[in-house]
Amino acid sequence: MNYHGSDFYDRDENFARYMERRQAEENANDTLEKPVFQELLGSVAGLRILDVGCGDASYGRELLDRGCTAYLGLEGSGNMVTAAQKSLEGANGNVVRTWMEEWDYPHEAFDRVISRLAIHYVADLDRLLHNFFQTLTPDGKLIFSVEHPVITSTLQPSGIRTSWVVDHYFTEGYREQQWMGGTVYKYHRSIETYFLALQKAGFVVEHVRESKPLRTNFRQEETYQRRMRIPLFLFFSAKKRRERD
Ligand SMILES: C[S@@+](CC[C@H](N)C(=O)[O-])C[C@H]1O[C@@H](n2cnc3c(N)ncnc32)[C@H](O)[C@@H]1O
Repeated sequence: MNYHGSDFYDRDENFARYMERRQAEENANDTLEKPVFQELLGSVAGLRILDVGCGDASYGRELLDRGCTAYLGLEGSGNMVTAAQKSLEGANGNVVRTWMEEWDYPHEAFDRVISRLAIHYVADLDRLLHNFFQTLTPDGKLIFSVEHPVITSTLQPSGIRTSWVVDHYFTEGYREQQWMGGTVYKYHRSIETYFLALQKAGFVVEHVRESKPLRTNFRQEETYQRRMRIPLFLFFSAKKRRERD
């Protein structure tokens, strides 16, 4: 399929809708995804960070403000790259427009590789994880979030959901989704597949998380109750395997 995950974001109307929803009050990214991601990432002081599928790099700006020494974002969408350049203005951060599948990852150049909600757009997970492995320093860590497999296994009709039908869970591959007025193709894989792919690439998995909502992150009880129904995001953190592991 001649499709890249960024194609959706390069249609101006989709981009505008996405940015609006991304910044909406009590949005799922800020209430569910970011708190867990921060916990897994921990302190960034003195670290060189590669952010794969960095979007508008507002997170990169935040990481630089929190003391990371260098930040590089990889991003396939021109609209996002423009937004990222703006976010990183005047800071020690850069963004490169590239497909994450095709970038020439430098050897042992980063202390952390991070990726938030972008890897599920990529077909060849093994190759990507191999690249992450070799671009990390020996003490480096990989932290990423993806859309949860119970979500990618469902076809999602537009409108308000009353139920989620998990189906063909073990049939992995592209799933088409009508999303915010556009079509996206995401790569569905099981939790087990992510775990085994990390091991195969040479990583030791340290944490697996599922975006369980924390009441304190929600103003509205109703939103919290809704978020208790189904996991939206899946997270892994992993370090490089050494002889002693
Ligand atoms: C859901 S957005 C998340 C953006 C950002 N990480 C965040 O959490 O706000 C996914 C991003 O991944 C980018 N992306 C998707 N597939 C990509 C690919 N193959 N190479 C580079 N970027 C990609 C998209 O353009 C988009 O900006």
